[in-house]
Amino acid sequence: MYLVVMELGETNKNKDDEGDMMNLDEMIIKNNDSIRIESGAIIMHAWETPIMARMAEFICQDGGDILEVGFGMGISARLIQKHDIKSHDIVEIHPDIFKDLEEWSKDKNDINTLFGDWWGARDWLKTYDGILFDTYLDKHVPEFKNLIPTICNDECKVTWWNNLPKDYNEHQLAGVEFEILHVQPPVNDYFNHKTFHMPKYIHNEI
Ligand SMILES: C[S@@+](CC[C@H](N)C(=O)[O-])C[C@H]1O[C@@H](n2cnc3c(N)ncnc32)[C@H](O)[C@@H]1O
Repeated sequence: MYLVVMELGETNKNKDDEGDMMNLDEMIIKNNDSIRIESGAIIMHAWETPIMARMAEFICQDGGDILEVGFGMGISARLIQKHDIKSHDIVEIHPDIFKDLEEWSKDKNDINTLFGDWWGARDWLKTYDGILFDTYLDKHVPEFKNLIPTICNDECKVTWWNNLPKDYNEHQLAGVEFEILHVQPPVNDYFNHKTFHMPKYIHNEI
């Protein structure tokens, strides 16, 4: 069973003036190393696996209810599943990738899948103990910081993709720390640095 949270106008099929969103009409080209959109850009690449592993470790350190935004190649999802957690909600917007998610999750009973844009899905989300936010071409990213207080339990661990090789506090959250991971990406079209500054935010309800 999965929940469909797609709302008309929440996607940008025609790439109109609403800003960058995934073009959901574009096919996804997949191989063992990467997935990319038909027009060329890479969405996810296997070299990111050590980063995803550390992110999964961070957000799952206390177990509990976990939220993952963006399934991609399912690398982080598989790594999250290795931890002792209570539940795992995954939101994915692209129909091809969502099919992969459905296939992968069908024999796992702690997973709830949501098809659509996470921002459109916000009213269906519960509260979590760990959150991994890793989307691509997502115009709602600036809203993420506003959602955090509404979906985080006390001490919830949150991390997200940081495309800059520095301590960049994209969501301007108080108390974010950065852990430097040494990486060796092959030449690619989105990240060619040797260090990944992984954001680590722990939510405190005051
Ligand atoms: C970089 S990939 C995620 C990679 C994943 N962490 C892994 O380990 O394979 C980004 C994913 O976010 C999805 N996505 C992009 N915008 C989204 C949105 N607004 N809501 C939900 N999913 C979105 C994309 O379709 C894609 O599957």
